[in-house]
Amino acid sequence: MSLVVVSNRITRGNANEPITGGLAAALLPIVEKSGAIWVGSSGRVRDGVQKEPFAEVEALGAGALAMLDLPAAHYGGYYEGFANSALWPALHSRADLIRVSQGDYHSYREVNAFMARALLRFRKPETTFWIQDYHFLALGAELRDLGVHQPVGFFLHTPWAPRDVIEGVPHHRELVEAMLAYDLIGFQTESDCENFANYLSSTLDLMVEDGVVMSQHGTTRIAVFPIGIDVEKFARQATRAVSHPDVSRLRRSLNGEKLAIGVDRLDYSKGLVNRVKAFDRMWATHPSLVRSVSLLQIATPSRGAIEAYGNLQSELAKLVSDVNGLHGEVDWTPIRYLNKGFSQTVLAGFYRTAQVGVVTPLHDGMNLVAKEYVAAQNPDDPGVLVLSKFAGAADELDTALLVNPHDIDCMARTIATAVSMPLLERRMRWEAMMLKLKRGSIQQWFSSFVEALQQPRTEREVRHLIEGDAARLAGIVERCHAFALTDENAWSDPDRRFVADDDAGMRRRTRPRTVGPYDGVA
Ligand code: G6P
Repeated sequence: MSLVVVSNRITRGNANEPITGGLAAALLPIVEKSGAIWVGSSGRVRDGVQKEPFAEVEALGAGALAMLDLPAAHYGGYYEGFANSALWPALHSRADLIRVSQGDYHSYREVNAFMARALLRFRKPETTFWIQDYHFLALGAELRDLGVHQPVGFFLHTPWAPRDVIEGVPHHRELVEAMLAYDLIGFQTESDCENFANYLSSTLDLMVEDGVVMSQHGTTRIAVFPIGIDVEKFARQATRAVSHPDVSRLRRSLNGEKLAIGVDRLDYSKGLVNRVKAFDRMWATHPSLVRSVSLLQIATPSRGAIEAYGNLQSELAKLVSDVNGLHGEVDWTPIRYLNKGFSQTVLAGFYRTAQVGVVTPLHDGMNLVAKEYVAAQNPDDPGVLVLSKFAGAADELDTALLVNPHDIDCMARTIATAVSMPLLERRMRWEAMMLKLKRGSIQQWFSSFVEALQQPRTEREVRHLIEGDAARLAGIVERCHAFALTDENAWSDPDRRFVADDDAGMRRRTRPRTVGPYDGVA
């Protein structure tokens, strides 16, 4: 089997460089070990004169990285436009932030089609394609249009919102119909998968049974594959990182006070404003924690050209400065707020240094930071994870202190509880989480998805197909009879013949008649 993995963002995997987002960090070890080809955006654009998509290919562990220059004319409409100003807000249930134009949708489809053409270069008879995330919802359909019959799977790293929110995305129907060209669609959580199934049955009127849906493209399986991390590797990295100069500096600067840590992209889905408000409330209501607990908030700038992100950056900077002004002392800063990224190694060391990890998104696909914080802890003296119940990770990490990120008072109390939790309880909670992390590692995520994608169609799916075809055939025969009985001469007029059609059962080929008994058929 040769595996081609596709995502918009890729990373070269330099251990000393920051990685943007959980997706790239998660895929890196998989590609390095499995020998897959990882295709994605080079971060550069090119104008449309090139005949062939241009990809720079280099080795990445046992695998390879193919970095593609995307078309200049469509990049903005695709990335900042449709992907991140329509799909991203909708998938995170923020339909109020959707800002999109018809041109953005056009560009999104163009880039999907461009990527499909570029992938042909990596296709062999035994190739399996695995497409990642909301940037490429329509890529499977584009590949099928180019004659690709190999297995093509898709995994969504974000949540999938309830149906009424998704319906706020222009062209939602067309896009989801295109998604059904994938053989397998994977989600992070049961509720994402249920929301998707509900969209299929309620909006598209399709039948979903036992995780299988039949459409004009054939059958598609939908299932849950919670993404994990390389637990042992991350734990080793954290142990070693303790002597890293950045980590030592942080430890020294604490002067024995306790540290809470948050590490996020600067994104409205991450609940950063509420988090800072919760710390503000905590210091106001628990004066004993002033000077004894501080917050290190790393918020890496992200998608800065989009208005909603620029607004968030200003709002957060002002809030942090207000809170520091209110609770700070000449020799104590309550919140260290950094707008830059750190390497995985340094982050692992920071996580181990912090007694509390705060991961409180308003909505998140998985949030691998939660898992990394747990994996980085010292088993003899582990820290406490405060986790939003709306992060995908909460399904597994249910012995974390789960919070509602909209309830600032409760978050404040919970962080205070975390800071003073006795060792025995910390250990019990941490051990239970580690067990879950080991069971659901990134390696298991990878192999279970790829195995499911390569599985031959199950007996049930084949039966679905046969039964579906039989039903359609019966419908066609019945209508032909009715047609012949009532309008025997019709067959001599080729313009009035009917053709079998996958989704409608039967459709008039051309020139609709104005009157007659069959007008409702097409
Ligand atoms: C999330 C998305 C990823 C994306 C990452 C970083 O994790 O699911 O697809 O790569 O954020 O976002 P960016 O826009 O910087 O690639």
